[in-house]
Parts: sequence; structure tokens; C-alpha cells
Amino acid sequence: MELLLTGGMGYIGSHTAVSLTLAGHRVVLYDNLVKSAEVMVERLERITGISPLFVSGDVRDTDHLTDTLRHYAIDAVIHFAGLKVVGESLEIPLEYYANNVQGTISLLQAMREVGTRSLVFSSSANVYGEPRYLPVDEAHPTGVTNPYGRTKLHVEEILFDLARSDPSWRIICLRYFNPVGAHESGLIGETPQGIPNNLMPYIARVASGELAELLVFGDDYPTPDGTGVRDFIHVMDLAEGHASAVAYLTGHSGWQAINLGTGQGYSVLEMVRAFEAASGRPVPYRIAPRRPGDSASCYANPEKALRLLDWSARRSLADMCASTWAFQSGSH
Ligand code: WQD
Repeated sequence: MELLLTGGMGYIGSHTAVSLTLAGHRVVLYDNLVKSAEVMVERLERITGISPLFVSGDVRDTDHLTDTLRHYAIDAVIHFAGLKVVGESLEIPLEYYANNVQGTISLLQAMREVGTRSLVFSSSANVYGEPRYLPVDEAHPTGVTNPYGRTKLHVEEILFDLARSDPSWRIICLRYFNPVGAHESGLIGETPQGIPNNLMPYIARVASGELAELLVFGDDYPTPDGTGVRDFIHVMDLAEGHASAVAYLTGHSGWQAINLGTGQGYSVLEMVRAFEAASGRPVPYRIAPRRPGDSASCYANPEKALRLLDWSARRSLADMCASTWAFQSGSH
């Protein structure tokens, strides 16, 4: 199929581009390069042997999107483009609504204009808010505590209303838990700008010596070792989940929300130990106060993805750490 990946030059988009290209799809990466760089095109070609098509553009440029969808005769869109830092969204909510919600409406208007009505949306487990029960399944109530999560939930609801109004739309919202890791080549991986907010890239920079120590945000949670528990999922498993979602769309219309997680939770300290084992480097840490808004535990019930998409995560915590370290130490 001819697929357009908005935000396709980013962390999850680029890894998904690898999986889709190797599965025989033709991939067009549409990206404004605010959070990525054009060197990604060359790296993707080194991995897949095929140079991806790159189109520079912003999802809020509806006319440019319409022309791009028409020019490449796009069959389906995977929508990654958006801002994704919880803390930042509290400081600049308007930019988050403009990029994430307005940007999605612009994309949908362009898709409707050219008659492309198959969409996989990059959503987040953030839409569940504080877990009321575990593991979290797709029936878990939604409820958000920050503007970032609210933009994801708003977009899911817009997509739900659109699919209900017009049965020709085929929409899957993939709710990611905690994506980590890197492609086995070590050529692509997570490259947060500035000091990382997320645990794994922060640990990687402590192991490399770039950062002095990890602050563990709380060790008094009701968890086995007192530190936060999360469902870390290898980005290549996540990428393969997108390929399965695209395949599902060819035969099913309507709206679906599907968790992409492993179903296994690991604590912050378990991640620290796993990373030390994978890298052979110490990861010094200090216990710090809890981070506002953090939950104690959050991990997925991945059953629906297995039932509908015939997909399940298969890479281990050791794989996640080893691939992150290969990318970090290759200092790409
Ligand atoms: C994981 C655990 C922290 C950093 C967020 C978003 C989510 C998704 C993934 C976009 C927690 C602890 C972290 C550190 C720490 N992003 N931690 N020291 O908060 O589960 O999810 O990122 O889609 O939407 O909400 O991920 O990696 O920030 O934190 O102790 O320096 O690591 O307290 O328990 P989180 P995280």
C-alpha cells in the first residue's frame, strides 16, 4: 500500500517506516522537522535499502497535505505528528491544542477532500489518567490530568464522531504505553532534545556519562520496590503493531481503540538494573520526591491487540536496554 506517515521522521514514526518498508509498503514521510532531522532519510535507506520519500510540511497546512495525499495516491495515513511532553503541555497548552488537535482536523479535511479514509492514530495510555484497575484494558474509563493527554483524548473523540457520521472511515487509535528501545542497527533511536523527560533516555545518558545521576521520582509507591511501575514496550514491537493495524484497516470500517503494551510492568529500579546489565555501565541514582501527576503503576491488558490484530509484543526488557545502549553508545 501507499502510506503517508505524518511525523514520520520522529522516534516512533521512523521505526514504523522501517517495518512498513520491509513489509513491502511504499512510505511517504511528511514532517515539519521541528523535532527531527533530514539525516533520518539517509539512515532509513541504510537500514532498508530503500530511500523513503520525504515531504517537508506541517499538518496544519491543509492544502499542502491535500496535494501530497493526491500526488502519491495515498491509501492510508498513520498520524504521528504532534507534541508529546506532559510537563511542557502544562506550560504551553495552546501550542499543544494547535499542533495536536487543529493539526489532526486539518489532516482529516485533506483526507476527506481526496477520498483517503483509512487512518491509524498515534494515541497514548495517557488517555486513561490514573488507572482505576490493572491491567488497563480498552474498557477502562478515560480521564486526563494534563493538556497533552487531553489533546489525545479530544482527537480520539473527534475520530469517533467522524466514523459514526460516515461509515466509509476506517480508524484505529493505538494507545501506546511506554515506548523505549531502538532499531537493532543502532542507526536510529530516541533523541529527545535537551534533558530527557522520560526514564529510558535519561538512564542511557547517565550510563554514557553525559548526565551525572538519575533522580528516582519516589520510592514510597505501593509497588514491590516502592518505585513506579510501567509497561515498557520495544519501539520495534510498537512499529510492527502499526503494520498489523494497517492490515486490519483494509478489511474493517468503523472506529477502534487498541492498547499497544506488553502486559508486563517493570519498576524504575528494575529498569536501572536491566540497563546496567545490558550496558556494563553503572547507573548511579538518588531517590527524589515524587513527580506530580505520576501514577504508581500502569500496565496494559494487551488481549484486544492479539484478538483483533493478531499482534503481541515479543522483545524483552534486555532487548530494550541493549538496543538503547547500542544507539546511545554509537552516539548517533
Ligand atoms: C516512567 C517512570 C517516573 C524519569 C510518559 C507520558 C506518556 C508517554 C510516555 C507520550 C515513572 C520515573 C522518569 C526520571 C524517574 N509519552 N522517572 N526519573 O510518565 O510513564 O509516561 O511518557 O506518549 O504519555 O505520560 O514515562 O518515562 O516519564 O516515567 O524516576 O528522570 O520513570 O516517575 O514512574 P511516563 P516516564
